[in-house]
Amino acid sequence: MDSQWVTIIEPFRIHSVEPIAMTTLEEREQELLRAGYNLFNVPGPRVLVDLLTDSGTGAMSSEQWAGLQRGDESYAGSASWFRFREAVRDLFPFQHVIPTHQGRAAEKILFSALGGPGRTIPNNTHFDTTRANVEFTGAEALDLPVPEGLVPSSRHPFKGNMDVDALRRVLAERDVPIVFVTLTNNSGGGQPVSMENLRAVREACGDVPLFLDACRFAENAWFVKLREPGYEDTPVPDIVREMAALADGMTMSAKKDPLGNIGGWLALNDDALAEQCRNLLILTEGFPTYGGMAGRDMDAIAQGLREAVDEDYLRYRIRSTEYLGEALDRAGIPVVLPVGGHAVYIDARALLPQIPPLEYPGQALAVALYREGGIRGSEIGTVMFGRRADGSEQPAPMELLRLAIPRRTYTQSHVDYVIEVCGHVARGAEAIRGLRMVEEPPALRHFTARFEPL
Ligand code: F0G
Repeated sequence: MDSQWVTIIEPFRIHSVEPIAMTTLEEREQELLRAGYNLFNVPGPRVLVDLLTDSGTGAMSSEQWAGLQRGDESYAGSASWFRFREAVRDLFPFQHVIPTHQGRAAEKILFSALGGPGRTIPNNTHFDTTRANVEFTGAEALDLPVPEGLVPSSRHPFKGNMDVDALRRVLAERDVPIVFVTLTNNSGGGQPVSMENLRAVREACGDVPLFLDACRFAENAWFVKLREPGYEDTPVPDIVREMAALADGMTMSAKKDPLGNIGGWLALNDDALAEQCRNLLILTEGFPTYGGMAGRDMDAIAQGLREAVDEDYLRYRIRSTEYLGEALDRAGIPVVLPVGGHAVYIDARALLPQIPPLEYPGQALAVALYREGGIRGSEIGTVMFGRRADGSEQPAPMELLRLAIPRRTYTQSHVDYVIEVCGHVARGAEAIRGLRMVEEPPALRHFTARFEPL
């Protein structure tokens, strides 16, 4: 693109639209009451701007819709499977690709094979389902972010990095069957991991396999290109291949960077482990050439993977997230800086110092944004991570409210509206009160817990 223009436009035109319904403050208060103050219980049509997640919520391109038409639904060895596998291996050249219905199915299969009591699985930061799937096997899910990663205001360019010294100690002292690195680090603010850090992790691992939780690999690669010396002129697909070459395998949710509405995979080089995982796949997901997906989904993802590494798209994608984060920062709202790839994270602990962690400041802020403006975000704090494997409840390292940006779905005026509502809520922050949890399921409690206002 010509570089004389400051405005970075959406690099697409809209060719199919989906209406969104307006609601009144009173209607939203009713919804909150019905939902037990948990926004996962609010019906989508009652949300104005839905920033709950960037997972499966993106808009597909016309070529992806064409891919749906091309879908081959043969049970075994469909043409869609071969196109899907080729697109995956073009970026991630692992020996074995095992298709699953979404990311957590890949995690479940892999950790069933490698987890178990007494084992420890380190990650820069486990996301909710990864942690839950590790813990379900009896293993320990250990987060090893660099210290800067836990300071919302620290402007380190690669706050997603893993603490390599801490990893070395863990590898020396504990039974570690596999090491994970999450690209970008979702729980830690959508922050990228540098290639230098990934190389150091690889070296520290020695013979222990290194896997990538690669949901947001393209956004991570774009940050490497922008911020890491030596990569300015490297094409994004080459950066991705270089990341993959440092790893022994990956888990993937195709609902994120691959621009799918559903889907995922596990990929790896180890033949024996792949065999074991395929056997589990057949038991729970499906035959190895479709796993948990329809043929048409695999075609949509194959096309999505090509679009995900397009640099005009990535420039727009990362700039539009940054646009929201910078505007909130300018308005004096504390956000995780630098702004991450797929989401803006408001530091609810800093914005609402009157609410103690066990009264859930991130959740209280999520409720306030929905009540005032129909905006749905998601808490990433003590509601999500506060219940520990030993049964105790403790404050999470950070109390964040994530505003995740669905891919290619909202325009700049939607985002301007979000900025306006956030400003309004922040000006009234002192009056916001915390919540009490009144119903709690045994695992992944944030999805179904119910609350009452204090
Ligand atoms: N790993 C990371 C880093 C994730 O962010 C997610 C999902 C998963 C694994 C699991 O993938 O949903 O396809 O089973 N994150 C979503 C989110 C749900 O809102 O961030 P999945």
